Amino acid sequence: MQKLNVAVVGCGYWGPNLIRNFNQIPDCMMKACCDLDEKKLQRMRTLYPGIETTTKLEDILNDPAINAVAIATPVYTHRNIGKRCLEHDKHVLIEKPLASSSEECLELIHLAEQFNKVLMVGHTFEYTAAVNKAKAIVASGELGDILYISCVRVNLGLFQPDINVIWDLAPHDISIIFYILNQFPISLNAQGKAHFNEKIEDVATVTLNFPNGTIAFLHNSWLDPDKIRKITIVGSKKMLVYDDISQNEKIKIFDKGVEVPPYYDSYAEFHFSYRYGDIYVPRLNEYEPLSFECKHFLECIREGKSPRSDGYSGLRVVSVLEAANKSLRNNGAQQQVKID
Ligand SMILES: NC(=O)c1ccc[n+]([C@@H]2O[C@H](COP(=O)([O-])OP(=O)(O)OC[C@H]3O[C@@H](n4cnc5c(N)ncnc54)[C@H](O)[C@@H]3O)[C@@H](O)[C@H]2O)c1
Repeated sequence: MQKLNVAVVGCGYWGPNLIRNFNQIPDCMMKACCDLDEKKLQRMRTLYPGIETTTKLEDILNDPAINAVAIATPVYTHRNIGKRCLEHDKHVLIEKPLASSSEECLELIHLAEQFNKVLMVGHTFEYTAAVNKAKAIVASGELGDILYISCVRVNLGLFQPDINVIWDLAPHDISIIFYILNQFPISLNAQGKAHFNEKIEDVATVTLNFPNGTIAFLHNSWLDPDKIRKITIVGSKKMLVYDDISQNEKIKIFDKGVEVPPYYDSYAEFHFSYRYGDIYVPRLNEYEPLSFECKHFLECIREGKSPRSDGYSGLRVVSVLEAANKSLRNNGAQQQVKID
């Protein structure tokens, strides 16, 4: 099998993780990387002596041997870099969120279709063992009807200069919820506060309303003393807690619930009963999700398949982020979410 040649654009915090993973895949050649900052490139040359480095995107675009480009630059650059790569016949993996607006996402989707190229967004959590286990448990009906989902993703920093905390942290939870439920919200409310940079909220909450009545709450902060990455899925039969920080017990199922008496004659007879059953921890076959994601990208290129997290998946998440910004600017007023 001929190796696919990959380039990575953006070698800041996340890009080197992409480079390391592509470099470890046997049927792929991690050929080149690009960053505007020469110091970042020097570090990559030290770690990977064979890698070509450049500060000019044109060098990547004009190299016909490069089949695919992974983009890990700031969000406002995603559309331009992605567009140019697609126009130069490269398959593209763009880090979350896919772009700065739904129009930009649609432009990338249409370009990828026009040039028959794979467009994938880096919704990394869709590739984790824990999220896939949670999805399977929800689909099995074990939890019953999903009443609500609560997501907490908070820590101290890292403040972003160009996007607020919702655009930075919520894409993960939104993509996880959509992947698990296979449903999309019809409306949302968002509230937040910018304490340090004007108009860049550093703490926020978003409430998503789904057509079947399920409700989801997201809490994101760069101003929290604790690092918390926790998702609670409350069903009518059981409850699931996914704690991404936990080493060995990422998912716990609680056989807990509330039962309403089927009938009662007087108010005195009425009382809820609470079930406190067993708690169990399903076994997870852990692996590095980014490795799975990078392999999936290459597999989609080779087999002409649409990725699990394709351009439309990126568009759906960005549509929610856009609606959240509108709600934030209108003191938390409800916003319709237009998906697809
Ligand atoms: N999937 C995940 O779990 C995950 C985690 C962290 C970050 N990310 C995403 O990765 C992307 C990058 O985030 P980061 O934290 O690495 O940012 P960063 O600021 O640490 O790195 C961005 C790099 O891009 C370079 N750059 C900027 N404009 C460029 C251009 N036009 N051409 C070439 N290089 C350019 C910068 O010099 C910098 O080195 C964002 O979209 C972010 O949301 C994803």
